[in-house]
Amino acid sequence: MSDIKNIVPQGPSGYPLIGNLLNLASSQRLVWLQALVDKYGDVAKFKLLKREVYLINHPDLVRELLVQKIDNYTKKTVAFSIVKKVLGESTFTATGDVWKRKRKLVQPSFHKKRISNLGEIMTDAIEDMLNDWELVCDKNGTVEVTDAMMRLTLTVVVKALFSTALSKEEVQTVADVFTPLLDETNFRAGFPIRMLHKFRAKKNAAYEKNIADLDEIIFRIIRERRTSTATHNDLLQMLMEAQDEETSEFLSDEELRDEVMTVFIAGHETTANAMSWLWAILSQQPDIRKKVEQEVAEILGDKKPTAADFPNLSYSLKVFKETLRLYPPVPILPRRVEADDVLGGYKINGGGEVFFSAYLLHRHPDFWKEPEVFDPHRFDRETERKQHPFAYLPFGGGPRICLGNSFAMMEAVFIVAMTTQRFRLNLVSDQPIEPLISLTTRPKGGVEVTLERR
Ligand code: HEM
Repeated sequence: MSDIKNIVPQGPSGYPLIGNLLNLASSQRLVWLQALVDKYGDVAKFKLLKREVYLINHPDLVRELLVQKIDNYTKKTVAFSIVKKVLGESTFTATGDVWKRKRKLVQPSFHKKRISNLGEIMTDAIEDMLNDWELVCDKNGTVEVTDAMMRLTLTVVVKALFSTALSKEEVQTVADVFTPLLDETNFRAGFPIRMLHKFRAKKNAAYEKNIADLDEIIFRIIRERRTSTATHNDLLQMLMEAQDEETSEFLSDEELRDEVMTVFIAGHETTANAMSWLWAILSQQPDIRKKVEQEVAEILGDKKPTAADFPNLSYSLKVFKETLRLYPPVPILPRRVEADDVLGGYKINGGGEVFFSAYLLHRHPDFWKEPEVFDPHRFDRETERKQHPFAYLPFGGGPRICLGNSFAMMEAVFIVAMTTQRFRLNLVSDQPIEPLISLTTRPKGGVEVTLERR
């Protein structure tokens, strides 16, 4: 990076009034952002309506804004204010001291050791799905894996939060409410002009109702727990027991609701989308698939995985990590610039926003050799150790790094291992797999596979 101070970042000025809104709202937004990086370098500037937006594409600078300057680059952005409508003031959306308190309270519930206790919930849900797949296989049917992975990961978060509190029908209700809720949240955050959203009365009413329906279920379970003496081995119990060391306070019902909703939203679509990519990739990479099959046979044979097996399924984990590199489920993250700053010698004006993109950083040619090649060995221990930590950000970085990363990795590895024990997933031929980028990255049009018994 240059040492010269106060360079004014360059970039396109876009159209009058809207700036580059159409480029950013388009499904080709990452292609457009990559073109900005190619033309203007690691710091570029563009306009979104009246706002100045800086695209930061160097790991040193991303580290600076996520770690050293966390108080100047906050989550008070337009996109997060839209997500707040659903999540309220949770660990994901809160800022400043409110976030610090919540993170401290909630973090222990997501500790690796605690997550290990949830392994059986994961493997039970995976087994149910695979049993259904046996029937599909008998009929020579196909499975749309994006959809299947969404249902599976939603079941896992619901069970991880509430263990047995919801019946199978209620889990289905949650799933039915969730799809339109997520789609609408993705739409709003991808097209962040709040004024225009006001004109979609029918959609808005449905959105409010979906949130209210979920709230009703969540508050009901919280109320039941408050009056019961039974203990439960689930996340809600851990969150209810979390106590502030200094004030001795617990999370209120409203705060619990916000954390629960966050786990619902942050904790399932992300993993599901990554898993859909993973199956599409494995179907196209027989050598890598063979290695996964060998590892699973060697470590597990026919036995169900437990948390103790997780560290030994290291190749499967590398495959998942490499999938997250090429297709990070959260491709772009924003921060608001609170006050004027200089980042890597570039002048950054307060009041604007900075964007950084895991999708672009994961392809930065200075940090990744042959970035488009799928190679799990990039995550061999020694190679991974030498990598710049902020060149790989599927879970974000710094103090606000994803709280659920251990949860997601264990779940993903269990899905890979248990599915591999029983099936080989083969893409239905000639299916183009392209990314559909909104708030998250998922394969456009889904991933249709046939199931081959092993
Ligand atoms: C592959 C799966 C996942 C991916 C790619 C992912 C990605 C991310 C990213 C990029 C952030 C940082 C956002 C930012 O800095 O603005 C984040 C934060 C967060 N994630 Fe995840 N996530 C995943 C799974 C999960 C799961 C399973 C849970 C919960 C069970 C979860 C809970 C959270 C929470 C609570 C935060 C907010 C942390 C904070 O700001 O202090 N995530 N996630």
